[in-house]
Amino acid sequence: MPIDLIGSSPKLRSVLDNINLVAPLSSAVLIQGETGTGKEVVARAIHERSPRCRNRFVAVNCAAIPAALLESELFGHEKGAFTGAVLQTVGRFQLADRGTLFLDEIGDLPLELQPKLLRALQEREFERLGGIQTVRVNVRVIAATNQNLEQMVAHRKFRADLYYRLHVFPMTLPPLRERAEDIPPLVEYFVRRLAEQHGKSIERIPEEVMDAFRRHHWPGNIRELQNVIERGVIITTGPVLSCGTIEPLRNRVEPGADYAPIKTLADAERAHIFKTLRETNWVVGGRRGAAAKLGLARTTLLARMNRLGISVRTQGMEPDQLDRQLAGGEQRSHAASAARSDSWGGFAGLDSAREFRPI
Ligand SMILES: Nc1ncnc2c1ncn2[C@@H]1O[C@H](COP(=O)(O)OP(=O)(O)OP(=O)(O)O)[C@@H](O)[C@H]1O
Ligand SMILES: [Mg+2]
Repeated sequence: MPIDLIGSSPKLRSVLDNINLVAPLSSAVLIQGETGTGKEVVARAIHERSPRCRNRFVAVNCAAIPAALLESELFGHEKGAFTGAVLQTVGRFQLADRGTLFLDEIGDLPLELQPKLLRALQEREFERLGGIQTVRVNVRVIAATNQNLEQMVAHRKFRADLYYRLHVFPMTLPPLRERAEDIPPLVEYFVRRLAEQHGKSIERIPEEVMDAFRRHHWPGNIRELQNVIERGVIITTGPVLSCGTIEPLRNRVEPGADYAPIKTLADAERAHIFKTLRETNWVVGGRRGAAAKLGLARTTLLARMNRLGISVRTQGMEPDQLDRQLAGGEQRSHAASAARSDSWGGFAGLDSAREFRPI
């Protein structure tokens, strides 16, 4: 399916120019930018416009796979490499042979795995976990992150040698608020696509709705815009898009105000995380995300959300509803483990891991 990269602002045009420039080569590309700015879309576009497009585009979300399993996911393992390794398994690197490997959330790649990735990039070879045979591959790597890798290098949280290896062709995607002229075409595109998907016929977008969209800060960028429009399309009954406006959503009563009485420390923690997520429009990472506001690493916050049973599925719930759902020891542990299995249980299949990615 061709990838639509909607927009014609100078900032997006320069991104498109860079895609066309680097696509035919096999150089590593590092895509940086706030959450929802289109890093994965750009990675796929580079692959599609490259001679590798006949082979696979394999995506790995380094933040969604537990550190202990990431090495085997990337490089595969031999039979008997660890308890439960009953068969030899091919890793994502080998799956992407002659194609493209997209390493998403590269800032979350554990330090101890970084030398092995560097060697795979430089020497194009590696050994499977528990194996001695060297596997040779021809893979183009595109990495993406919304973290500041340079700062991570300065704080020794990311290896400088790997950073420079990935930094061969860096691209920074502009936030949506810095290219407001792209908002109307994006809105029209999403309305058309989502109306069709929901079997509706929407012919007009009121000017005041478009104005509100142009003025909004969009901390969750294009993904946030897409979600707001999907909500609008769902509530629209006639030919005119009735999005409500985005401001009333932001001015909703703070959850703390109507929250059920707090009984335990976990209740307090859940309420506070919930409130912060609402304030950031459920954006977890990045400078304006909930993790930064709470003074936590993004992965730490995701792990806590997991433990406390907060996930994208609880996003629409009122806090007291969430609290009721999680109340009671047995029920709570059941809900928390259900939430955990939702997010971690399917790590081998990337899409299930993605389910947990909050906007
Ligand atoms: N230029 C664009 N035109 C149309 N749709 C876009 C564009 N850029 C992004 N999108 C859409 O916005 C959504 C978010 O894009 P994507 O997943 O690539 O963002 P991201 O930067 O990888 O976000 P995150 O950091 O949260 O992983 C997707 O649904 C994607 O299809
Ligand atoms: Mg992404």
